Amino acid sequence: MNEIPRGTLQEQTFYEQVGGEQTFRRLVHRFYQGVAEDPLLRPMYPEEDLGPAEERLALFLMQYWGGPRTYSDRRGHPRLRMRHAPFVVDRAAHDAWLRHMRVAVEELGLSEEHERQLWDYMTYAAASMVNTAG
Ligand code: HEM
Repeated sequence: MNEIPRGTLQEQTFYEQVGGEQTFRRLVHRFYQGVAEDPLLRPMYPEEDLGPAEERLALFLMQYWGGPRTYSDRRGHPRLRMRHAPFVVDRAAHDAWLRHMRVAVEELGLSEEHERQLWDYMTYAAASMVNTAG
């Protein structure tokens, strides 16, 4: 029987709608390929290996969009603005971050509506991370 019993139909989260973990892993992996080549952003990352940073961003985004809460289990409350305080996030860094994220989002090939939602969030979140004028 393929029928869904009455009363059990639940709305899927955005995380589930776009394909779950593998979609977010692809997104963040593509993003970090851009960062790895970026003369402004790459030196900002304290670790030689970008792998752990990739893992943190993937887990954060999965949690934000309704997936598992692994990010907070490992890192506690996100407090993202505070966590970015040690880095100079100015207009140029913001623009570079979003440029790589744009490529990564587009390559997912999501529906227009999902892509718009994801992109609106990225632009809003990136603007809120800016901590240095200029
Ligand atoms: C606007 C430009 C941005 C720049 C230049 C930037 C740069 C950085 C850098 C250098 C780190 C440290 C690497 C690490 O150890 O993880 C970091 C961490 C992180 N960033 Fe950003 N970031 C930006 C925007 C964002 C946005 C918009 C988000 C969320 C949508 C985000 C989410 C994160 C997360 C989750 C971490 C890891 C936090 C932790 O658990 O320690 N960042 N970022």
